[in-house]
Amino acid sequence: MLDASRRANSLTALKSFTWGTVGHLPCVNLLSGPLSIILFHHRIRPRHTPGAQRVIASSGSARPETGTGTTGGLSGPPVAGRLIAPSLDVHASFLDALSEYHEEGIHLDLVSEELVDTTTFQAWADGLQLAGVRGEASCERDRVPHRVLWWVHNDQYIGRVRINLTLNESLLAFGGHIGYDVRPSARRQGHATALLGEALRVAHNLGVATALLTCAPENTASRRVIERNGGSLRDVSSAGRLRYWCLTR
Ligand SMILES: CC(C)(COP(=O)(O)OP(=O)(O)OC[C@H]1O[C@@H](n2cnc3c(N)ncnc32)[C@H](O)[C@@H]1OP(=O)(O)O)[C@@H](O)C(=O)NCCC(=O)NCCS
Repeated sequence: MLDASRRANSLTALKSFTWGTVGHLPCVNLLSGPLSIILFHHRIRPRHTPGAQRVIASSGSARPETGTGTTGGLSGPPVAGRLIAPSLDVHASFLDALSEYHEEGIHLDLVSEELVDTTTFQAWADGLQLAGVRGEASCERDRVPHRVLWWVHNDQYIGRVRINLTLNESLLAFGGHIGYDVRPSARRQGHATALLGEALRVAHNLGVATALLTCAPENTASRRVIERNGGSLRDVSSAGRLRYWCLTR
């Protein structure tokens, strides 16, 4: 249990939680804005019910949990996973994943110790959703309405995706509609391919008919993920990113 001053420091630090430059992802800040938003939201939300994973695509038009993913309807064995709203249900596994990311040198701005406390974790997870609905982010580029979803299997956190519902000039050059990553220990098992397939369905239900995906030319894995989901290479952006357009479905 954190003592009072440590908790205060911890919560203050949450204000700056971002996913930063996530590997090859753009500056994807998942939480910004006053801490009071997080705390207020936490106070009014119902108690967490284990197993009752919530759907961030709550506009009413989106499918609820996306069920078992497959490799985007392509050949190959099905990959077990589904997209959920950030949830305490995968708390322990998320912290394990964070250690893996840190060993890889990414997501360093997320401090594991500060997310060990379940109340803090829940407030942070709720804040991710609220920021998405409000289009808030500490990085200007990311201030568009968006959804953050986690790719999970049972209680295991596997990866995450951010779906931007609109684009600005910066996202057109770097970031596009959809960004994702998979925890290091779960890579090369088809998860990203399946995750993107499901994310495209969610994007479609949220009104994105054709999704822009950008990636670094040297990111072979991500290029394959996009291509296997029907992405069509259009050009190279001013930021040097390959720009793929992908029909949602
Ligand atoms: C890119 C990333 C999401 C891929 O995740 P993944 O779950 O390993 O991807 P998949 O298992 O679905 O593999 C997709 C394809 O890439 C290939 N691949 C995966 N990792 C690879 C690597 N390191 N080098 C070359 N090819 C690779 C797979 O063999 C597969 O190819 P296939 O379709 O021909 O069979 C993951 O490496 C990651 O999180 N990287 C850091 C963040 C990032 O780059 N995000 C993308 C931003 S654009």
